[in-house]
Amino acid sequence: MDHESVHHLMNTHFLAEVYTLATLRNFPVIHPLYKLLFPHFQDTLFVNTVGRKDLMESDQAPFRISSLGNDGMIELMRRSISEMTYSSLCLPENITARGLESIPNFYYRDDGLKLWNIINSFVRAVVEYYYPSDSEVCKDTELQEWISEIFTHGFLGNKDAGFPAGFNTVEEVIKFITMVIFKVTGQHAAVNSGQFDYCSWVPNGSLLLHKPPPTTKGQSSMKTILETLPNVGETVSFAAMVWVLSKKYTDTVPMGTYPEERFDEPAIKQMIKEFQAELFLPQ
Ligand SMILES: [Fe+2]
Repeated sequence: MDHESVHHLMNTHFLAEVYTLATLRNFPVIHPLYKLLFPHFQDTLFVNTVGRKDLMESDQAPFRISSLGNDGMIELMRRSISEMTYSSLCLPENITARGLESIPNFYYRDDGLKLWNIINSFVRAVVEYYYPSDSEVCKDTELQEWISEIFTHGFLGNKDAGFPAGFNTVEEVIKFITMVIFKVTGQHAAVNSGQFDYCSWVPNGSLLLHKPPPTTKGQSSMKTILETLPNVGETVSFAAMVWVLSKKYTDTVPMGTYPEERFDEPAIKQMIKEFQAELFLPQ
């Protein structure tokens, strides 16, 4: 439940919706940050609209029949976002804060940090091209309105948690845009795309238990296990959910391809090519 509602839906899908709406509301389509960000949001509003309906509305909807129910899942998300910090969204700081720098064979960290750094280099090149100094950042009222809306509506005005309410420096913009792109690409893939492989075997991670887990060793039997796990119909609902969530769509746009070619500047086109080379995409 924590995985599905907090780490998948809240931290990737629903925050992506905040970034998308703020982008649509505050940037004209010719703004370089609109051009940079919008390809990453192409299906966000659609998938979230369908997702809310499919996860919560019908009688057999997975969240509705889960142990917490719709209200409980929403409460879990509400509590998590009220405790969320900016550094927890930024992978390098997140890994350090959790003391996970040196544990072996941790592929999420290894692959994730590589991806974070590749995105960061690309974002740095593009942002520094359009904002040669901090004063350009401070003077861009559209950019300031954009982050202000995200701060208010996405991060609930929680300044103590380190979220920026405005941008004063080029570095702050680079870090925030890197975080946004990483969250809607690599982070989403990490928490989303393996769900069928892992969760279609319901004992691995069920949204519903009919009884609390045992507290004493040796007290479980096949009978108590079967009484605790979801029944066949409920299992079908959860398995169908993770199948849909893990499906690879035919219209997927790989990160870094930018097929709409919104940028005209040769320098930016070259940066995109270098980004693609770093990502091992065909040129
Ligand atoms: Fe997802």
